[in-house]
Amino acid sequence: SKKIKIEEDPSLPVATCIKIRDVKRYVDRRIAVQGWVHHMREDGKKLLFIELRDGTGFLQCVLSDLLCQTYEALTLHREATVLLKGTLTADERAKGSFPGIELRVDFWQLIGPSPSEIENILTHESNPDILLNNRHLVIRGSRTSTILKLRSIITQCFREHFFDRGYVEVFPPTIVQTQCEGGSTLFQLDYFGEPAYLTQSSQMYLETAIASVGDCFCILPSYRAEKSSTRRHLAEFHHIEAECPFINFEDLLLKIEDLISDVIKRVMEKASDWVLSMNPNIRVPKRPFRRMTYEDAIRYCQENNIYKDEATKMHFELGDDIPELPERKMTDQINEPIFLIRFPVSLKSFYMKKCEDNPRLTESVDLLLPGVGEIVGGSMRIHNLDELLEAYRREKMDPSPYYWFTDQRKYGSVPHGGYGLGLERFCCYLLGLYHVRDVCLYPRYKDRCKP
Ligand code: 4AD
Repeated sequence: SKKIKIEEDPSLPVATCIKIRDVKRYVDRRIAVQGWVHHMREDGKKLLFIELRDGTGFLQCVLSDLLCQTYEALTLHREATVLLKGTLTADERAKGSFPGIELRVDFWQLIGPSPSEIENILTHESNPDILLNNRHLVIRGSRTSTILKLRSIITQCFREHFFDRGYVEVFPPTIVQTQCEGGSTLFQLDYFGEPAYLTQSSQMYLETAIASVGDCFCILPSYRAEKSSTRRHLAEFHHIEAECPFINFEDLLLKIEDLISDVIKRVMEKASDWVLSMNPNIRVPKRPFRRMTYEDAIRYCQENNIYKDEATKMHFELGDDIPELPERKMTDQINEPIFLIRFPVSLKSFYMKKCEDNPRLTESVDLLLPGVGEIVGGSMRIHNLDELLEAYRREKMDPSPYYWFTDQRKYGSVPHGGYGLGLERFCCYLLGLYHVRDVCLYPRYKDRCKP
């Protein structure tokens, strides 16, 4: 068998190079495809079925007779890369992304071999750590690659939503010298001898950009040194943030509602088959979303056996922060999107505008979605200069690194507001996934910075 050499028959028509997604257009034609051996199955000595993957789809390919008796064929393993040429043929037995079409191979070449150990790296028993160490191989699987493709479509739909509504995309830096969401989760780094941080949010830069381009958005990584690893916290996540001038709190809520409903609608128009195969129960949520004040939420928890401390059955009281677990419990019980609004000043960030009817509360909102919990955090911003200076003092912040942020309140200040949405959490909601890690190419969280 080592001596068997195959050569391309020069009398055959020239093969057109195609991607698997286009096979339907080439039935009965001679084509060439290149890709990875996703699965293979021998049928006796004279038939070899390869399920070929090229990133655009899966195609069943058949090698017969001498083609499957060469040295390369006998030592072929999963994940090797190959060039296959042959005729696309309608055959109802063929499986793959395009059932009913298979490639009858007449010539092939090995591009990159794969050793037999590929079969032992990942098994059904592999624990999560092994899977994460080998994430570069896991992503080749059909489920993970579908999730990654859906994340691409979802991101595209966010962009299309914003462009359709007249927003401009801007690109703030992610290495910064200010903090937006408190000091406890900052990643600090040495920036040519000066202290700097990885950004927690691009909000403050978007607030400056509204005076330049009006309504604007960005889709960039944000970083949080979250010490606990939960199913919805990452150290690096993609933050979809938007900021709008000349709006009020009610406008802000309507914009978030429009964003969520419209993006889900757009994703379903592009990829409902894939989405429904992962999450059969997903629907575009009905509008308007339920609104609940922070005070309502505390009362809800008190009345529905959701405790501050499960062990001692200690009740929440006004002023308490509602942590992730009880918040999710409440959201899952109510089982529809909830705008949680009007949080106390003491629980929220320094920049938030106070409610006109109650200076202890803020014009703030968290959007909670069933299954995941908080997806969006937003607010109206303080636009009065003295109020902002007072907020720096209250939070014991040195105002000097924030001079440019403060300047927005000096040179043509304007009522404005915005929000940030965690892309990974949104993907989990839409695709019915449990863990934000599952929608990351390479997740980053405490104790995980590879591959
Ligand atoms: O509520 P957050 O902290 O709000 C802000 O950062 C605002 N400055 C945004 C703004 O108004 N422009 O974060 C907003 C959202 C959260 O609701 C959550 O979806 C996501 O960002 N998020 C995280 N996602 C994954 N891992 C983490 N560690 C996250 N922290 C926040």
